[in-house]
Amino acid sequence: MRGVASVWVILVSTLLLVLTAGAGEEFREPGAPCLSCHDTVTPGIVKQWEESKHSKVGVKCYVCHQAKEDDPSGFDHFGYRVTAVVSPRYCESCHPKQVEEFSRSKHAWAAFIGPLKPWYREMVKQGRDPLSQETAMESNPREFIRGQLTPLYPDSGALERIGLLDDESYYQENQVLGCLQCHGSYVIARDGKLVDGWPNNGIGRINPDGSMGSCTACHTRHRFSIAEARKPETCGQCHLGPDHPQIEIYEESKHGTIYASSGEEWNWDVPPGQWGPEDIAAPTCATCHMSGFGGVVESTHDVGARLYWELQAKKSTPQWDDPSKVPLGEQKPDEEQAKRGRAEMKKVCRTCHSSTWVDGYFESFDRVVMDYNRVYEYSEKLLNQAYDEGLISRDNPIDELPEVMYYYIWHHDGRRWRMGASMMGPDWTHWNGAVDALMDKLNMMEEWLQMKRENRELEERVSRMESRKVCAPSLSVLLALLPALAYGVLRRRRG
Ligand code: HEC
Ligand code: HEC
Ligand code: HEC
Ligand code: HEC
Ligand code: HEC
Ligand code: HEC
Ligand code: HEC
Ligand code: HEC
Repeated sequence: MRGVASVWVILVSTLLLVLTAGAGEEFREPGAPCLSCHDTVTPGIVKQWEESKHSKVGVKCYVCHQAKEDDPSGFDHFGYRVTAVVSPRYCESCHPKQVEEFSRSKHAWAAFIGPLKPWYREMVKQGRDPLSQETAMESNPREFIRGQLTPLYPDSGALERIGLLDDESYYQENQVLGCLQCHGSYVIARDGKLVDGWPNNGIGRINPDGSMGSCTACHTRHRFSIAEARKPETCGQCHLGPDHPQIEIYEESKHGTIYASSGEEWNWDVPPGQWGPEDIAAPTCATCHMSGFGGVVESTHDVGARLYWELQAKKSTPQWDDPSKVPLGEQKPDEEQAKRGRAEMKKVCRTCHSSTWVDGYFESFDRVVMDYNRVYEYSEKLLNQAYDEGLISRDNPIDELPEVMYYYIWHHDGRRWRMGASMMGPDWTHWNGAVDALMDKLNMMEEWLQMKRENRELEERVSRMESRKVCAPSLSVLLALLPALAYGVLRRRRG
C-alpha cells in the first residue's frame, strides 16, 4: 500500500511541476484567449508576433498588454483589463538594463527637450508636475504650444502677418504630424479611453502611466527585432532633413556606400553582445552609437553614451550632464563624461581601423567643431549688436532677416557643417555646411545690417534738413525707393 501511495505522490507532484514549469515558460499568461480572436481581427499583428523571438519564448499577448493597476489607459476587454499603450514600464520586468539606459537618455526626454519645452517650463514655473496626467488634462500641452512665438516654431512672423496665428480654426496641425511624430508627445487617457495624443510612436512620448519614451520607435511591434534596429533606415526615420541630416550624411559616407553595396549579405541576427566586424563590413548607426561590438564595447540604450560634443546646440560644448535638466535650462557640460564617451566610440572604430587612422580623424573633426564655434560667436555678437542699436526688435525673436539668418547659421547650416564632419560626409561639412553658413547666411546678415545703418543715417540727414526747412524732394524720393533697392540687392545675393 505504502508503495502505491508514494507512486501517487510522485505522479501528482511531477504533474504539478510540469504545470508550473509550463506557466513559468509562458510567463504566467493566464490562458487568455487573445489569439483566437485576434487571428481574425488583426491577422497582421498575430503574424508579426509569431515571427518574433517573443513568440518562441512564450511571451504572449496578455503578458505585455495586461494593464497595470495604476495605469489610466487600462480598459475592460472581454473580461480582461488590457492597455494599448505598452510603455517601457511593461518591458522593464524582463529587460531592466535596456529600460534603465533608455530612460536616462535624451531619447526618453525628446518631447520635453523638443516641442513641449515651453509647456514643461511653464508648468514647472507654476509649481505643477509636468509628468502628471492631471496637469496635462488641465492644461493641454498641444493646445499650449499652438501659436507660440519662439524659434522652436519658426514661421518668420508669416502666420501673424496673414492673420492665422490666433485663428482658432487654423489648427497648426503640422506640429502634431511633424514635431510630435518624431519627438513624441503626451498621451492622455481618461477612464480607459485615449483622449489625446494617440496614435503616437514618438521617441520621447509621455505615457499615461507616467513613464517616458517608446521602445516601438526602433523595435516596431510585433517583431521587436534587433536586426531591424541595427539597420540605418530605422534611425533615418527621424534623423534626416535640413537640420539633422544624419541618414543623408551616412549614405554619402564610405561606410554608407559599403552598406548599400553589400549590406544585404551581412549577419544581422547575431545575438546581442556577439556582433562584431566579422559580421559586417562597415558600421551602421547602431554599431557606432549603441551595439555591443567586437567584444570591446557593451551595448547601450543611452545614445549619448559615446558622444563628446553637443552638435545640435547653438554653440557646441562637451555633452551636457543630465537630460532631465535640459528643459529647465540648468544643464552643464560634463567634460569627464564626454571624454569617456569619446573613448568608447574610438574602441568601436578600432575594431576595423588602426589608432593612427582613428586619432587623426578625430583631431580633424574637433577642429571643425571649434572653427564653427568661432563663427557662431561672431554671428551672435552681430545679432546682439543689432538689438542694442535698435536696428531690429526683440518682440518676435525670428521675424526679421538678421534673426532668420542667425537661426539658419546655427540650426541648419551650422549643424550640417559639424554633423557632416562627425560622420564622414564631406559634402555636408563643406558645401551644405560651412559654405552655406558663411557665404550665404552670414554675408546676408551683415549686408542687411549695413544697409539698415545707411538707411538710418540717410533718414537722420533728411529729418535734419527738413527741420532746417530745406526742401529736399530728391532725397525724399530716394528714401521712398530704399526698401525696394535693398530688396533687389538681397535677392541678387541669394540667387
Ligand atoms: C472576442 C474577441 C476578442 C478577444 C478575446 C480579444 N480581443 Fe482584443 N480586440 C478585439 C476587437 C474586435 C478589437 C477592436 C479592433 C478594431 O477596433 O478594429 C480589439 C482590439 C484590441 C486592442 C486595441 C485597442 C485599441 O484601443 O487600439 C488591443 C491592445 C487588444 N485588442 C488586445 C487584446 C488582448 C491582449 C487580448 C487577450 C487578453 C484580447 N485583445 C482579446 C477582439 C478581441
Ligand atoms: C512584447 C510585448 C508585446 C506583445 C507580446 C504583444 N504586444 Fe501588442 N503591442 C505592444 C506594443 C509595444 C504596442 C504598440 C503600442 C505602443 O506604442 O505602446 C502594441 C500594440 C498593439 C495593438 C494596437 C496597435 C495597432 O496598430 O492598432 C494591438 C491591437 C495589439 N498590440 C495586439 C496584440 C496581440 C493580439 C498580441 C498577441 C499576438 C500582442 N499584441 C502581443 C507590445 C506587445
Ligand atoms: C515577460 C518577459 C518579457 C517582456 C514583458 C518583454 N520581453 Fe522582450 N524578450 C524577452 C525574452 C525572454 C527575449 C529573448 C531573449 C533571448 O533570445 O535571449 C526577448 C527579446 C527581446 C528583443 C530581442 C529580439 C531579437 O531579435 O533578438 C527585443 C528587441 C525585445 N525583447 C524588446 C521588448 C520590448 C520593447 C518589450 C516591451 C514592449 C519587451 N521586449 C517585453 C522577454 C520579454
Ligand atoms: C522616432 C524618432 C527617432 C528614432 C527612430 C531615432 N531617434 Fe535618435 N533622436 C531623436 C530625437 C528627437 C533626438 C533629440 C533628442 C533630444 O535632444 O531631446 C534624438 C537624439 C539622438 C542622439 C543624440 C543624443 C545626445 O545625447 O545628444 C543620438 C546619438 C541618436 N539620437 C541616435 C539614434 C540612433 C543610432 C537611432 C537608431 C538606432 C535613433 N537615434 C533613432 C529621434 C529619433
Ligand atoms: C523628422 C523628425 C523630426 C521633426 C519633424 C522635428 N524634429 Fe526636432 N529633432 C529631431 C532629431 C532627430 C533631433 C536630434 C538632432 C541631433 O541631436 O543631432 C532633433 C532635435 C531637436 C531639438 C534640440 C534638442 C537638444 O538636444 O538640444 C529641439 C529643441 C527640437 N528638435 C525641436 C523640434 C520642434 C519644435 C519641431 C517642430 C517645429 C521639431 N523638432 C521637429 C527630429 C525631428
Ligand atoms: C562610424 C561611426 C558612426 C556611424 C556609422 C554613425 N555615427 Fe553618428 N556620430 C558618430 C560620431 C563619431 C559622432 C560625434 C561624436 C562626438 O561628438 O564625439 C556622431 C554624432 C551623432 C549625433 C550627435 C549629434 C549631436 O547633436 O550631438 C547623432 C544624432 C548621430 N550621430 C546619429 C547617427 C545616425 C542616425 C546615424 C545613422 C544614419 C549615425 N549617427 C551613424 C559616429 C557614427
Ligand atoms: C533608438 C532605437 C532603439 C530604441 C528606442 C530601443 N532600442 Fe532596443 N535595441 C536597439 C538596437 C540598435 C539594438 C541592438 C543592439 C546591439 O546590436 O547590440 C537593441 C537591442 C535590444 C534588446 C536585445 C538585447 C540588447 O541589449 O542588445 C532588447 C531586449 C531591447 N533592445 C529592448 C528595448 C527596450 C525595452 C526598449 C525601450 C525601453 C528599447 N529596446 C528601445 C535600438 C533601440
Ligand atoms: C565594421 C568596420 C568599421 C568600423 C567599426 C568603422 N569603420 Fe571606418 N571604414 C571601414 C571601411 C571598410 C572603410 C573603407 C576603407 C576603404 O576605403 O578601403 C572605412 C572608411 C573610413 C574612413 C574614410 C572615409 C573616406 O571617405 O575615405 C574614415 C575617415 C573612417 N572610416 C573613420 C571611422 C571612424 C572614425 C570610425 C569610428 C567612429 C569607424 N571608421 C568605424 C570600416 C569600419
